[in-house]
Amino acid sequence: MSDSEKKGAAPADRVVRVELGARSYEIRIGEGLIARAGEILSSVLPGRRALVVTDRNVGPHFGHALAGALQKAGFDGTAIELPPGEGAKSLETAKALYDLCFTAKLDRGSCLVALGGGVIGDLTGFVAATYMRGIDFVQVPTTLLAMVDASVGGKTAVDHPKAKNAIGAFHQPRAVLVDTATLAKLPERDLRSGLAEVIKYGIIDDAEFFAWLEANVAKLLARDTVALAHAIEVSCAIKARIVGEDERERDGGPRALLNLGHTFAHAIETCMNYAGYTHGEAVAIGMALAGQLSVKRGLLGEADAKRIRALIEKAGLPVALKAGDPPPEDLHAATFRDKKARGGKLRFVLADKIGHAAVHGDVPEDEALAVWKSGRS
Ligand code: GLY
Repeated sequence: MSDSEKKGAAPADRVVRVELGARSYEIRIGEGLIARAGEILSSVLPGRRALVVTDRNVGPHFGHALAGALQKAGFDGTAIELPPGEGAKSLETAKALYDLCFTAKLDRGSCLVALGGGVIGDLTGFVAATYMRGIDFVQVPTTLLAMVDASVGGKTAVDHPKAKNAIGAFHQPRAVLVDTATLAKLPERDLRSGLAEVIKYGIIDDAEFFAWLEANVAKLLARDTVALAHAIEVSCAIKARIVGEDERERDGGPRALLNLGHTFAHAIETCMNYAGYTHGEAVAIGMALAGQLSVKRGLLGEADAKRIRALIEKAGLPVALKAGDPPPEDLHAATFRDKKARGGKLRFVLADKIGHAAVHGDVPEDEALAVWKSGRS
């Protein structure tokens, strides 16, 4: 415990740096950052015109406070609210947002501030990457999933009816402000969904963190703020290190490991029109299926696969599809449309032990199909 925590003062912010040369930035994690956003961003952003992009679920809670904090620090800042949901991650909404950028008179020195979950972050980042050939943007994630994954690393995109995140660009934010106070408003289902991505980091990179999660998942579900801040910091530190080594997910680079469970998850989401399961739930099922495939291929011991399934279940997340979900053949066909497929060959991230994983491009089609066909709950 730090001296300030012992004295009962507000704990200091935690700061994780993403090292990318001239595009380096800080992920700041702390309680009440939205109220301090203006002063924090004053030293980060060269311009003083900012448009906060949020949705109708998040805006009423935090949009006014964020725009106000920016104005107090001398920014010309307003907030606009888009409809919530994955449907907003479309070229149509991007076009509407370009129109709003022109109406707000944003120029090349202006900034977009994404306030919300992964959908708002991805869409706003995509518009920032392309409006006037690229302007600054800042991520202020308000879901656990966006805090530990989507807001960090510069992947921006909109969906295409044929595949999720298919139209996009790499565009790093200038800063990420994780205000942990926003988690108090997060619906229970979204909190659990975010835990799927947190668990992912333990599986691919950090056995000690995985064991910590096994011991502390109940605290996380009870929204213990110290436990949540720790889980967010460790997750962001792992992601920051990987992105620093492999910003653009080159062939054979480590960034692809962040896609554990995602080949399965994206197929589920595409086949179900992004309804039925949240992204985190689809990733949870995908990680359990990837565990099964790893065991089948002789890479992972059954005991480790059981630990993975048990932790996912302890976080209140699904480990299998349900009767009535799309047929295995449809899900299998959808995996080939994923960006991770290359030259018609499937690529899966598979763990060989808890804390270590690798990309496998040699999984025979019938083995992948067999996993889709395996038991449903
Ligand atoms: N969400 C995976 C990545 O950022 O690479």
